[in-house]
Amino acid sequence: MKIEVKQVKLTEVHLPLLLIGLAEETKEKETDLKLTGAMKKMAQSVITLGDFKATNGEHTLLYSNGKFLSERIMLLGLGKKAELTPDQLRVTLGDASRIIRDIGVEELGVSLPHLALGGLSEVEAAEIVAEAFVMGSFSDPYQKTRDLDKFKAIKKLHLITQKKTEASVEAADKGLIISEAVNLCRRLAWGPPNQITPTRLAEEATKLKEFGVKTTVYDREQATKMGLHSFLAVAKGTSEPPKFIVMEYGNPKNETVALVGKGITFDSGGISIKPAEGMYVMKADMTGGAVVICSMKAIAQLKLPLHVVGVVPTTDNMPDGGAYHPGDVVDTYSGLTVEVISTDAEGRMILNDALSYAAKNFKPAVMLDFATLTGAMVVALGEHAMGYFANDDAVAERIEEASKSSGERVWRMPLWEVYDDQLKSDVADWRHLGGRPGGAITAARFLSKFVMDTPWAHFDIAGQDEQASDKGYNPKGSKGPAVRLILDMLRHWN
Ligand code: BES
Ligand code: ZN
Ligand code: MN
Repeated sequence: MKIEVKQVKLTEVHLPLLLIGLAEETKEKETDLKLTGAMKKMAQSVITLGDFKATNGEHTLLYSNGKFLSERIMLLGLGKKAELTPDQLRVTLGDASRIIRDIGVEELGVSLPHLALGGLSEVEAAEIVAEAFVMGSFSDPYQKTRDLDKFKAIKKLHLITQKKTEASVEAADKGLIISEAVNLCRRLAWGPPNQITPTRLAEEATKLKEFGVKTTVYDREQATKMGLHSFLAVAKGTSEPPKFIVMEYGNPKNETVALVGKGITFDSGGISIKPAEGMYVMKADMTGGAVVICSMKAIAQLKLPLHVVGVVPTTDNMPDGGAYHPGDVVDTYSGLTVEVISTDAEGRMILNDALSYAAKNFKPAVMLDFATLTGAMVVALGEHAMGYFANDDAVAERIEEASKSSGERVWRMPLWEVYDDQLKSDVADWRHLGGRPGGAITAARFLSKFVMDTPWAHFDIAGQDEQASDKGYNPKGSKGPAVRLILDMLRHWN
């Protein structure tokens, strides 16, 4: 989608559709309509007739029939001004974006002054509109149909204002960059496992060279020499080549942030094989890896003044004759040994190596990991929030702040040491599994052994993969979770 900020009067622009947002209160006061001429008269008549009340999400279409330049106006209800948060606006516009796309409109204008309500500036609105339309109207043409001519998409969005500024142009650009990163994350996360392989993820990471990201991809042989034994234990059962991906962006003199993502491109469970029903969802077990790759992309495009390292260990988890067994004792990059209880708890096996690799080699000021790690987290929070664990209150505070602006719900989970009792092993330093009680917490406790003394937060994003229906700016499928949260955190880092 192309986005352009345009300084022009609504009556002087000729587009297939003009979107006018109206709050419930604004529609009552004539001057608040901010419309003139035929547009104003037509809007007033639907309002007076009671056909349009401007409740949140309500919409009505007006056709110009030659009375004004653009072909259609969509009046979009924004509800009560006082209840209109930035995220609510993003949700409402996200829903509208699909209605507009499905009409077949490829180019539209959105009036910014109509959205600058309740303390929101036009600049802030510009970013929100860009995000809502790019994320909300997303669908993956290559998965849906091979006939791209039949595929509906919004191609151009004009942000219409009476005062175009550098700030509003920049805000729209930022919104576009960030939401395109979200869409790429969705495409990778929800893509089929025969296409989204470790090799493909490595290619996506390598492509970031264009934006100044240096990517190094280690294969099975190199990873063996590096001592990534725990990662390689999981990869033993698959003929699909595993990759240990390391991305680096920015000046190492700046503060270092490490992002680590679980990249299991298909989780069959391995020898501890999963039940057949619903197994296909495990195509999304590389969501954390996609989150890291796509965040790196946006970080580099936005030229954030940080040094950011992304580490994605990626492999299939499969049960062939060479596969690792329940009962194995495995070496790790950290030097600790681990007793394998279930080969289906593979995420923590690949992550422990990635965490200690990043902690040891880059000494980050903060490390964040993202993983579809446990079914226990899905049970605890369902699809509406990500659980996170932090060993540092200052990091937790930054996460909570970012969650407010990104609108992605997060919930801090406990990381109490007593849970270590469940991880004691008779044959190794730790067992990797603590049983069903507090399953997400013991998984986080296990990971905490591998971060050295790095301020760290672990996000368990299981439950964020499969959204059953379209909702706001999240169409059915993967939400592309946490990408905007990461960006909101890092944009305001200093
Ligand atoms: N990838 C799964 C966790 C998961 C479950 C993600 C549901 C998304 C939706 C993970 O590797 C896994 O298999 N976890 C098991 C561990 C168990 C065998 C101890 C789980 O949580 O059931
Ligand atoms: Zn898994
Ligand atoms: Mn598993």
